[in-house]
Amino acid sequence: MHLSDFNMTKEQLKELYDTYFYETFKRFDFVADRGEGSYIYDETGREYLDFMAGIAVNSAGHCNKNVVKAIKEQAEAMMHASNYFYTIPQARLAKLICDSIGMEKIYFQNSGAEANEVMIKLARKYGKDNYGPDRYNIVTAYNSFHGRTLATLAATGQPDSAIQKNYDPLIPGFSYANYNDLASFEAACTENTIAVMVEPVQGEGGVIPATKEFLQGLRRLCDEKDMLLLFDEVQTGWGRTGALMAFMDYGVKPDAVSMAKAMGGGMPIGAMCTSARLALTFGPGAHGSTYAGNPVCCAASYAQINEIIEGRLPENAKKVGAYFMEKLKGLPCVKEVRGKGLMIGVEFYSDISNDVKYNCADKGLLITAVRPSVIRLVPPLNVTEAECDKAFDILNKVVSALA
Ligand SMILES: Cc1ncc(COP(=O)(O)O)c(C=O)c1O
Repeated sequence: MHLSDFNMTKEQLKELYDTYFYETFKRFDFVADRGEGSYIYDETGREYLDFMAGIAVNSAGHCNKNVVKAIKEQAEAMMHASNYFYTIPQARLAKLICDSIGMEKIYFQNSGAEANEVMIKLARKYGKDNYGPDRYNIVTAYNSFHGRTLATLAATGQPDSAIQKNYDPLIPGFSYANYNDLASFEAACTENTIAVMVEPVQGEGGVIPATKEFLQGLRRLCDEKDMLLLFDEVQTGWGRTGALMAFMDYGVKPDAVSMAKAMGGGMPIGAMCTSARLALTFGPGAHGSTYAGNPVCCAASYAQINEIIEGRLPENAKKVGAYFMEKLKGLPCVKEVRGKGLMIGVEFYSDISNDVKYNCADKGLLITAVRPSVIRLVPPLNVTEAECDKAFDILNKVVSALA
């Protein structure tokens, strides 16, 4: 659909937003009209190199042909049935995911926050079933981001941020410890703690990778104290960090892992996978959702995950990510370049990330600003070194001008 189909100008479209929308995002000043590969095209046909990829979603590129084909075919056969029925896309996707990441059970959801929500519910129920009514506390990290629902915003370790402010009373049962600091997590765990939940690379918190010692230490701590290790891989999952799931590269298997974003190739789907230890925790009535595991979303996800696996996109993320990170160190004003695979953060010496973001958009490059001094680069995982060179040149011009 294009503006011309509705005989409408961009200004008229913006007017509709101003009139009817609750705006919680500051939008770029153009219409996202069309997407193809690593590019978005606006209402005038202008091209933008997309290094935000729908917030780390379009990992096999915009409108990947096989994903589009799967969506069309499934939409013509069955768009929605509900979870009262067996459907083929759900079953195929469940097997593909569990087998390829070495987990035993799956529960589908519609988004990242919902995937975390069900992981939190599962941990609480496991605690109560096995240890009694008071064993429900979950320790998460400061600076984390787990979503915007009431439980996941309480799990998000950002007290006083806009995420939590004004939504009190927060749901009880969460406490926070310092990321990459095992002693801090040890100190935060009490006899009421049932689980520890972390992102293998903190995304919204500024792109901060966990150390191997930290995640391995958390695994040991959870084993010693009979607690569950929960990984939020909503952003890191499905090739982004150079492995199918980040935990596979760290060599640390969680008891449960959440995922969303890249798994759907643009369709809204999330999931939680668990080890066999948790297989009996949920039975009929324990949780539910009308749409979760929607056949069109599952068919899209099956095609997207095949693209990621067969196209060896994690390997490309590792190779191109290493090339790009090295190159980014040559930007002016850079304090640190960090990340894993194609999940890259650039921290500047001053709070220029929003200016960098909008000035880059003016010059045809899309990125996100995750902290006042940190930009995030999460291009599609099939991006080329030449496209990274192009992004670098734009960034270099923009940051040099600001400096
Ligand atoms: C690590 C992490 N968890 C959870 C979420 C929430 O996902 P969603 O926006 O799909 O609810 C995000 C979104 O950015 C995320 O990065």
